[in-house]
Amino acid sequence: MTEIVSDIRDASLADAGKRRIEWADNDMPVLRRIRERFEKEKPMAGKKMSACLHVTAETANLARALAAGGADLYLCASNPLSTQDDVAAALSVHYGIKVGAITGEDHDTYYKHIHAAIQHGPVVTMDDGADLVSTIHSEYPQMVGEIVASMEETTTGVIRLKAMERDGALKFPVIAVNDADTKHLFDNRYGTGQSTVDGIIRASDILFAGKKVVVAGYGWCGRGFANRAKGLGSQVIVTEVDPIRALEAALDGVEVMPMDEAAKVGDLFCTLTGDKHVIAKHHFPLMKDGALVCNSGHFNVEIDIESLEAMAKQKNAGVRNFVDEYVLDDGKRIFLLGEGRLINLTAAEGHPACVMDMSFATQALASEHALKNAGSFKAKVYEVPKDIDEWVARLKLETMGVAIDTLTEEQAKYLSSWTEGT
Ligand code: ADE
Repeated sequence: MTEIVSDIRDASLADAGKRRIEWADNDMPVLRRIRERFEKEKPMAGKKMSACLHVTAETANLARALAAGGADLYLCASNPLSTQDDVAAALSVHYGIKVGAITGEDHDTYYKHIHAAIQHGPVVTMDDGADLVSTIHSEYPQMVGEIVASMEETTTGVIRLKAMERDGALKFPVIAVNDADTKHLFDNRYGTGQSTVDGIIRASDILFAGKKVVVAGYGWCGRGFANRAKGLGSQVIVTEVDPIRALEAALDGVEVMPMDEAAKVGDLFCTLTGDKHVIAKHHFPLMKDGALVCNSGHFNVEIDIESLEAMAKQKNAGVRNFVDEYVLDDGKRIFLLGEGRLINLTAAEGHPACVMDMSFATQALASEHALKNAGSFKAKVYEVPKDIDEWVARLKLETMGVAIDTLTEEQAKYLSSWTEGT
């Protein structure tokens, strides 16, 4: 295998990045506890690992934990716009971790870094969106037998990987970290909820109060964002294709309607569905002058940007940082935020460390679990073991100073018996 080296924007940013990583570490006590144990036990000693994640201060603390466990880690970006260049520099200069990530990297550089992650020769991989796993399958089939397991961080990635499993295309085991309760119930809901608001405000400086905010998708991310927008005084409108989720939105007290209707009334649109062209070509001409459109789903396919580009008579790029203006034939203006890429990581810093603490604690423990049980998995998508999920939740509560009750013997017996009735 070729020797893999870091490819970052500017090594002189390393000290600033280190301060940022340490600041995030203050709010990641569960992951810190794991790092301290890994330091002593070295569960990843000598193991090559490659991670394709958003290169943020929080990810840096996951990288530190894996390196403390003895892993030889290569980290690349899971999105061309989400890298924090100072963090990438600090990882490479101060923590001795190989990184291939530069914010704003073009498509070829993005994939060059993914190829470097694969050529590193990992036995465990981590993905946020499944680009690493799918590239291994399509371009490095000879390597699939070497991979003990891959961890998947996000809903969109899990959807892709389950599709591969259904088609018989998946060739090594995957652990769906996203589906752990300590991940999606908190990261997807409260993390996305807050960081999406943060990204939209940083990009546009709008007031949420009084705005009609159209939320496409009422999964955990959509629920989180809708809830935060409502709390800020917006009139929230949800669009959905799933009747159960739509019903839940309606009973949560928000309006539910098809996008064809919502397009006419929304001031701000945010897609969080994991699917393609949720805001489609025919929706743009229906929108009001000055409508703001953004995405907080993993890939930039949720908004049909190509059609918007083609139908606009004029594009004014960068009317403000992270805002492009499109003028339609009738003079109507549509503002696209963050080029349709996930707004919380392009215009803001992603989810706060407090919530990434749980997601990345689960990533670290799931990787340890995979290595300990190497060889016992099939080429399937697995859930995170319940004991890992509960351990993370208990420790998080402890670090928050929150105590809970324990079942009495009588209560435990009652719950496991079926004979006691009225
Ligand atoms: N995904 C969402 N927020 C993130 C963050 N802060 N770091 C890494 N991945 C993320």
